[in-house]
Amino acid sequence: MENEYLISYAKKAMGNAYSPYSGFSVGAALLTTEGEVFTGCNVENASFGATICAERCAVMKAVSEGYTSFKKIAIVSSGDDLTYPCGICRQFLSEFMEDGIVVVQDKTGNIKEYSLNELIPFAFNLVKDFDDE
Ligand code: THU
Repeated sequence: MENEYLISYAKKAMGNAYSPYSGFSVGAALLTTEGEVFTGCNVENASFGATICAERCAVMKAVSEGYTSFKKIAIVSSGDDLTYPCGICRQFLSEFMEDGIVVVQDKTGNIKEYSLNELIPFAFNLVKDFDDE
């Protein structure tokens, strides 16, 4: 139920994707531990490396509104297959959802769910190291 709800938000956000260079649209919906939902889409740039993925777009929106603890993120794309978060987004998410869940859905409606930890074991973490001292 929660997954379907988040996926519907992600699909709506995907409609706002700005992806004239790749033609590949991505939408994400992030659920905070407080129950708020923040969405994101990929925003490309003529200087390709400046492109922001949908997942980081959603995280930036949430953090900038004061939400820094996330439970789950749903990701959909215009591609045929399941779209998993890229390496940068996995690291970026790990800052705020160490034991969070990543839900992905393909075009046929097939849903898969992973823990973020599964997708990025041993994520880099400075804060933890500081805490240990
Ligand atoms: N993209 C995302 O938005 N999220 C991902 O996890 C993978 C890639 C975007 C970036 C770029 O606009 C397009 O997909 C093609 O790489």
